[in-house]
Amino acid sequence: MHAAKVIFVLGLALAVARAGIPGGVNPLEGAKLEAAKLNLTNVLAKLASGDGPNYQVVSVKSATTQVVAGSLETFDVELSNGTDKKNCIVKIWEQPWLPKDGTKVTIKCPNEPDLEKVW
Ligand SMILES: *[C@@H]1O[C@H](CO)[C@@H](O)[C@H](O)[C@H]1NC(C)=O
Ligand SMILES: *[C@@H]1O[C@H](CO)[C@@H](O)[C@H](O)[C@H]1NC(C)=O
Repeated sequence: MHAAKVIFVLGLALAVARAGIPGGVNPLEGAKLEAAKLNLTNVLAKLASGDGPNYQVVSVKSATTQVVAGSLETFDVELSNGTDKKNCIVKIWEQPWLPKDGTKVTIKCPNEPDLEKVW
């Protein structure tokens, strides 16, 4: 009985992992990951051309997407500010139907205040 339950739960977890959870967090892979990296690069370039900070992507360790109100991409990424490399979490949340402030970007790096920009 107990073993059957465990197997059922494992099977369910596997099915969910294969299908991806609707409304849940899904890893970005292949062409979608490349498109997401482009988003990340564009967003960092936009920050650098404004009042900063000036970060370059060193490497993307992982990236996920989530359907919320809009789409939310989360990156576990190594960033460089020119002198130092840091492991940061970057989130890009887009609500493209909004006339303004439809893009919200947050960057969390260790030993630095969280940064949030909206445009
Ligand atoms: C990333 O880029 C794709 C393709 O341009 C776009 O459809 C998607 O909404 C973007 N996602 C985010 C969160 O910026
Ligand atoms: C990069 O970050 C380090 C540590 O936070 C800081 O000391 C340094 O001044 C920054 N360099 C630039 C070019 O912003």
